[in-house]
Amino acid sequence: MLVQGKNAIVTGGSQGIGRAIALKLAENGANVAILYVGDRQRGAETVKEIEALGVKAMEVYCNVADFEESKAAVDEVVKTLGSVDILINNAGITRDNLILKMTEAEFDSVINVNLKGTFNMIKHTYPLFMRQRYGRVVSISSVVGIGGNKGQANYSASKAGIIGMTKSAAKELASRGVTYNAIAPGFIETDMTAVLPEEAKKAMCDQIPAKRTGKPEDVANLALFLASDMAAYITGEVVRCDGGMQM
Ligand code: NAI
Repeated sequence: MLVQGKNAIVTGGSQGIGRAIALKLAENGANVAILYVGDRQRGAETVKEIEALGVKAMEVYCNVADFEESKAAVDEVVKTLGSVDILINNAGITRDNLILKMTEAEFDSVINVNLKGTFNMIKHTYPLFMRQRYGRVVSISSVVGIGGNKGQANYSASKAGIIGMTKSAAKELASRGVTYNAIAPGFIETDMTAVLPEEAKKAMCDQIPAKRTGKPEDVANLALFLASDMAAYITGEVVRCDGGMQM
């Protein structure tokens, strides 16, 4: 029970990697609030699954890219659960295109959700964490935020931005017992990657030393560790979770 009695927010917690992290934290004793947009049925199912693990669960339908909406969501979680100890910034989208063809809207939407959304959540929880002298923040970046990727200028810039923001926040609040770390997943099987053609998936898999794609649980295990007190002396760190894809 690594996070027994803690209260956690998981953005994009309705499905995929976020859902796996929400369940992993719940399995380890944390109450969990998921913030998400999109399929409400999936959100409701995830809430039920969390509750079945014997902890409190709640959902807030919230666009993290919206400053006021994300502030209201944090307030609602504090009101319902009493506090926040753990923040997992996982909500993310892709709008892939070569720069030659990438529209302004494609660039802006990815930066707004992935990077500004992460800023909004870090900003709104910052005073709480500072006051209570405790906080664990884990933000989901990507290996392409480190190495770049053809067709993902918007996405890789947003994920690189998360790394810079993580390190800056870590420096600001390290003396207050608040840690900020990032995870850089490689190829993880979720809806986000299900849209890729089989051939592209196989070619990518061949290049992974572990010779398999990642599962959401692979990322969730690392998120649990970084969100726990076992990682109290780790901050400003970026940890890859990619089967050795990028070294
Ligand atoms: P997914 O598409 O299955 O889930 C995305 C989640 O984000 C959903 O719960 C959705 O409701 C939420 N979301 C999207 N826009 C939102 C918004 N504006 N406000 C609030 N919530 C919003 O994606 P997946 O694969 O689970 O990805 C989760 C995170 O992991 C993303 O940040 C993604 O960039 C990152 N990642 C995924 C990789 C993969 O191979 N699947 C690899 C590296 C990073």
